[in-house]
Amino acid sequence: MQLDQLSWFPGHMTKTRRMITAEIANMDAVCEILDARIPLSSRNPDLDELTAGKPRIVVLNRVDQADGAQTRRWAAYFRARGYAVIEVDAKSGAGVKQFAGAVRALLKDKIAAYEAKGQVGRVLRVMILGIPNVGKSTFINKVSGKKSARAEDRPGVTRGKQWVPVDKTLELLDTPGILWPKFEDPEVGVRLAFTGAIRDDVIDTEELAVRLMDYLGEHYPATLTERYKITVEAGDDGFSLLNKAGRKRGFLIAGGEVDTERMSRILLDEFRAGKLGRFTLEQAPEVCE
Ligand code: G4P
Repeated sequence: MQLDQLSWFPGHMTKTRRMITAEIANMDAVCEILDARIPLSSRNPDLDELTAGKPRIVVLNRVDQADGAQTRRWAAYFRARGYAVIEVDAKSGAGVKQFAGAVRALLKDKIAAYEAKGQVGRVLRVMILGIPNVGKSTFINKVSGKKSARAEDRPGVTRGKQWVPVDKTLELLDTPGILWPKFEDPEVGVRLAFTGAIRDDVIDTEELAVRLMDYLGEHYPATLTERYKITVEAGDDGFSLLNKAGRKRGFLIAGGEVDTERMSRILLDEFRAGKLGRFTLEQAPEVCE
């Protein structure tokens, strides 16, 4: 399958869109969970239209895997656009405690308006949305203190929408269904593949590894030196860097050529396992308007 053909599951997408449209009027806010390593590629741009001007909170998840300086810039970027933002590592739970406070700060005018109508302590409802593998269930489990596996993970169990209480006056609507980002820009598919959000068996491993080397050579050359003992020189591209790394590792095939296929798998595995360090694969704009 080609990277630009990855907009699968149109049926699931339609169902999810219908569900969002049906529920949105009952929501006080929408929480969008993004992968801090690819904050734009892990967004679904249709949300702006689907969520119809509701207050939005952005959870930059996986901060433990992202470049910290970039995460701060991305947080500023989203704040400048009117979103509340929290930085989270849902796996360890770091940052999760800020969620309830951030929602209440975002909705303070709404809370005041409810109170003016005599609805003191009215439950706030927040719809949680995110693309697959972004960490949505991990986040929901941590923020609600829930331990159980999600029903959809068990074969044969169909899961409907679920209300998940965070505290006495805050509830999450956990939305089932598939919400992919747009794949019209093939770069989006490539970045999702780098992070492992798209399964490897649908993508050419070597093509992907070459693209990743290209990016690392441009933005993180010191990391390549440290991990693979290679130097990035003028004129190097992803393929030449992959060759250099494979040669250093001694991955050779008959005739002394580098086994680039093997090096490709190693690079992707090590990158995803965090062995190369923390990375952000989309650079935040320098100046935030
Ligand atoms: P989803 O509902 O959005 O599809 O994603 P889910 O929560 O199932 O998370 C997918 C994988 O990402 C899980 O790993 C989860 O532990 C991991 N994850 C989620 N948030 C974070 C984070 O902030 N940092 C890091 N490093 N990992 C995160 P898994 O390998 O599938 O499961 P497990 O081995 O961790 O149990």
